[in-house]
Amino acid sequence: MSDSPSDDPLVAAARDAAENAYVPYSEYAVGAAVETADGTVYVGCNIENANYSNSLHAEEVAIGEAVKDGHDSFARIAVTSAARDGVTPCGMCRQTLAEFCEEDTPVVCDEGDSLARYALGDLIPNTISFETLEEAERKQDGAAVGEPAADVTEPPADLDE
Ligand code: THU
Ligand code: ZN
Repeated sequence: MSDSPSDDPLVAAARDAAENAYVPYSEYAVGAAVETADGTVYVGCNIENANYSNSLHAEEVAIGEAVKDGHDSFARIAVTSAARDGVTPCGMCRQTLAEFCEEDTPVVCDEGDSLARYALGDLIPNTISFETLEEAERKQDGAAVGEPAADVTEPPADLDE
C-alpha cells in the first residue's frame, strides 16, 4: 500500500475539512477525518473563539459529528494541518478519541509527501475509561461492606494545628 497522503481518501477528506477551519487567532488550520466501523466518513476542522478557551479542535468536531449520528466505534483516524507538518492529536483529543477507539486504532498524520502512522494506544497509553470508573465503583462498594480503611470521622492531625 502506498504511503502517499493523496492516495488515502481519509487524508484527502481531512485536507478538505481543513479548508473550512476558522482560525483567525492561531492561523493554524487543522482538519480531521474519522472512519466509522461501518465505513462512513465524518470530518471536522478547528473552530476558534475570541475567548480562546472555547476553541474546538478538529478531532472533537469530527467525533461529535459522527456520534450525534449514532456512531460510537471507529476504524481509522486521519489528521492534517494546512502546514502538512505531521500534526498529531493533542492530549485532550487523544483522550476523546480513546473514548470511542481501540488501542490499535490507526491514527494517520499528514506529513505532506508521506504519512506518519500511529496506534492510538501508543499516542495515549493508560487512558481513563469506562472500565476505570467501573473498577473504582467496584472497589468503593467492596470497601463499604468490608472494614473501613481509615476513621474518616477524625480530621487529619495537621488540620488541628
Ligand atoms: N488543534 C486541533 O484542532 N487539534 C489538535 O489536536 C491540535 C490543536 C487546533 C487548536 C487551535 O485552533 C490550533 O490547532 C492551534 O493550537
Ligand atoms: Zn486537540
